[in-house]
Amino acid sequence: MKIGVPIEIKNNENRVGMTPSGVFELTKRNHTVFVQKDAGFGSGFFNEDYVKAGAIILDTIEDVYAAAEMIVKVKEPIEKEYALIKSHHTVFTYFHFASSEALTDAMIESKAVCIAYETVEDADGSLPLLIPMSEVAGRMSIQQGAKYLEKPIKGRGILLGGIPGVPPAHVLVLGGGIVGIQAAKMAAGLGANVTIMDVNMKQLRHIANIMPENVHTEFSSEYNIRRHLPQTDLIIGGVLLKGAKAPKLITRDMLKEMRPGTVIVDVAVDQGGCFETTRPTTHEEPTYIIDDVVHYSVANMPGAVPYTSTVGLTNVTLPYVIKLANEGWEKACENNASLAKGLNVVHGKIVYKEIAEAFDLEFEMA
Ligand SMILES: NC(=O)c1ccc[n+]([C@@H]2O[C@H](COP(=O)([O-])OP(=O)(O)OC[C@H]3O[C@@H](n4cnc5c(N)ncnc54)[C@H](O)[C@@H]3O)[C@@H](O)[C@H]2O)c1
Repeated sequence: MKIGVPIEIKNNENRVGMTPSGVFELTKRNHTVFVQKDAGFGSGFFNEDYVKAGAIILDTIEDVYAAAEMIVKVKEPIEKEYALIKSHHTVFTYFHFASSEALTDAMIESKAVCIAYETVEDADGSLPLLIPMSEVAGRMSIQQGAKYLEKPIKGRGILLGGIPGVPPAHVLVLGGGIVGIQAAKMAAGLGANVTIMDVNMKQLRHIANIMPENVHTEFSSEYNIRRHLPQTDLIIGGVLLKGAKAPKLITRDMLKEMRPGTVIVDVAVDQGGCFETTRPTTHEEPTYIIDDVVHYSVANMPGAVPYTSTVGLTNVTLPYVIKLANEGWEKACENNASLAKGLNVVHGKIVYKEIAEAFDLEFEMA
């Protein structure tokens, strides 16, 4: 199959859909991979690396779309890309259709086959192509939190791990899923005193079994959260209710119970946030302050570490890319139920119920 890897042209997106290692795996199987010139640059991969792995470098995005049967990328196509997508294309990327009617209409019109990373789903309900990005965001939340606790950037001026003779900081992690576990691990590794809260007792038992001694588990409730606020230095919000808006666990009045310079990082900002005072921010201006509390709520945290994010993402997408290239989308989806869940729009028809419902459009079984 002929596979195209274009540059991501969405603002501030430095990831790329395939690493040289992915190209190598595909060319080894006699597929042809066209990579747009400098597509990997933002993630630290150079044209020569791709050529060595067997790719053909093309100058423009138009060239890549024209040469390829399948497009592998990262972010949803933006308006400028709509016209490049044709009926013979299979497009494998994050789409997030339900949040854009314009994109949905454009892909219906293109008659292409659109397979969305975010709806590829395993039998246990987990979303394997979203997990690495939650892992990145969870780990990064502590890195960012530690930085914003520094005094020159308006934090409390406390070192997470303390020093001999000075106690460590207190970190409260709300939500013990992928984000929460990674955040708690990082904070614990730095020596902080960590509490992780969840409403799922099975998950709390699991966490209690795997975490070091400086991580404590607690059932998540308003009473318990309020009790922690006066002595907490850093709060991480990593709560998720599948398919729904995040519950507001930190309300505006609670800010008054925190010490000035407390940092709160709302990783769940992309689902509306789990703090009442959260509004989405960007890497250019990641924080704002309300009631002396530093808020960090960047909606695409993995974008700041494109090397790690690209490799993490392509580690999990590549096995599916290989299946799609070897078997074509129809056979590959027939043979793999997880991948079949990724089918969103097929030859002008919406085949994912929630997307059809979001825009009151017709739905057809794939
Ligand atoms: N900002 C970013 O760049 C970025 C990147 C990746 C993920 N995210 C977001 O981070 C959030 C968490 O993702 P995840 O992969 O860890 O989800 P997850 O499903 O693995 O974990 C969510 C956890 O929240 C728990 N929870 C639900 N209600 C709760 C409550 N009232 N109190 C405490 N815990 C509660 C659930 O039991 C679950 O364990 C999602 O909204 C996701 O979209 C953001």
